[in-house]
Amino acid sequence: MSMQNVASPAITLNPPKRNLLAHIPGDEGWPMIGRTLAILADPKGEVERMAAKYGLVYRSRILGETSITMLGPEANELVLFDQSKLFSSTYGWETILGRLFPRGLMLLDFDEHRLHRRALSVAFKSGPMKSYLSELDDGILERVTRWRQTPGPMLFYPAMKQLTLDLAATSFLGAGIGPEVDEITRGFVDMVAASVTPIRKPWPGTQMARGVKGRKRIVAYFSEQIPIRRAKGGEDLFSQLCRATHEDGALLSTQDIIDHMSFLMMAAHDTLTSSLTSFVGALAAHPAWQVRLRDEVSSLGVATGAPTTFDNLEAMPLTEMAFKEALRLKPPVPSMPRRATRDFGFGGYTIPTGTLVGVHPLFTHHMPEIWPEPEKFDPMRFTDEAQRNRHRFAWVPFGGGAHMCLGLHFAYMQAKCFARHFLQNLSVSLEPGYTPAWQMWPIPKPRDGLRVTLKPVA
Ligand code: HEM
Repeated sequence: MSMQNVASPAITLNPPKRNLLAHIPGDEGWPMIGRTLAILADPKGEVERMAAKYGLVYRSRILGETSITMLGPEANELVLFDQSKLFSSTYGWETILGRLFPRGLMLLDFDEHRLHRRALSVAFKSGPMKSYLSELDDGILERVTRWRQTPGPMLFYPAMKQLTLDLAATSFLGAGIGPEVDEITRGFVDMVAASVTPIRKPWPGTQMARGVKGRKRIVAYFSEQIPIRRAKGGEDLFSQLCRATHEDGALLSTQDIIDHMSFLMMAAHDTLTSSLTSFVGALAAHPAWQVRLRDEVSSLGVATGAPTTFDNLEAMPLTEMAFKEALRLKPPVPSMPRRATRDFGFGGYTIPTGTLVGVHPLFTHHMPEIWPEPEKFDPMRFTDEAQRNRHRFAWVPFGGGAHMCLGLHFAYMQAKCFARHFLQNLSVSLEPGYTPAWQMWPIPKPRDGLRVTLKPVA
């Protein structure tokens, strides 16, 4: 099938008139700004307070639009699993990501999305993944060794951000990227920062203007590199996409590769930085768990500095459970937007076509009726048995359904590979009495960078 035939149908989904949503309980806050400041200041508290007052389906107004928040596992299942194509991801995410990451996979819908997702999936099969693991492994070992040589207090979040960027440069773009690497990563960081900036127009001096400039640089780089990569080959993710084909055997177009690459780098970057920081923060605050995971790493019987294999990662179930618990407590994508393609009913309300709806992993992950003592770090929530008895949409850090994170296995691989080297070389602690404060939206990060102390382990 030619890709021209499967482009998204030219639907336009406009928000419904506000009075069509008036029957849904809620509070739209102040004129103009609505409840935007409340959600920015304390997203978890805001959603919890609104839910306590109005229930699991409520009306609010954020970033200039009235929207409906739908909470809990059943809402997640309806909106994310979406077998009847009721919810558009394109028209949900476009206000946030449309300018800088147009036509990224998450911004495509339905048949067109399915075909592109299939084409991209080749880059996440086990052969390519082994090659990314080898790049990640080298990069992580080198950085952890450096930290081991200069132990003591450090700000963990910026260090993790730099490491994730450096790892993306090699596993996504290839080890031989050359001197452009700094310029490319700077352009990319500006794009990511701009995607969540409150000023959405690229006025001079704004983050959005820097993001637009960064995108130009990235687009130019990818455009000039695509023919080179096609001729030369390579095992990095970019080279994989340059060779990827649609079902009819046609290569992805230059524009498609640019759009998918930019989106993939963005999708991986802040999410991994956030989750690995919260994971290490949790281990620093829970030394007993740190010891348990270090014992698990020791039991692999792999010498410090030896390469990490897929089999090693498979043999780290406790580490995976602890990482899952970190993702529960601080999901890197705390909420997900969609727009209704048709009228639908939920929780006793009729919700009209065009409505912007939001589901909230952050809220669902702290519902006390599903997660007793929700603030407690307890990786045992993720034993097979505990998981079997839970709603399958109660834990959704990677989303679910057609748009479920394509990089999920990549994320586990990087997290476990990092845990292996980090715990084998270092112990991490927090100053007594220090409880780091986190900003939870748009992507969780510690407000002060997370002050930790590293010590070499014997
Ligand atoms: C802990 C790390 C990560 C988390 C928590 C995460 C979370 C998510 C979530 C929640 C979605 C779905 C959003 C929605 O349905 O609206 C998503 C989609 C996606 N993620 Fe991830 N992600 C992570 C890492 C990665 C990595 C490392 C990559 C790439 C290597 C990646 C690539 C993607 C892609 C391509 C999509 C779009 C899938 C589609 O629309 O079909 N993610 N991610």
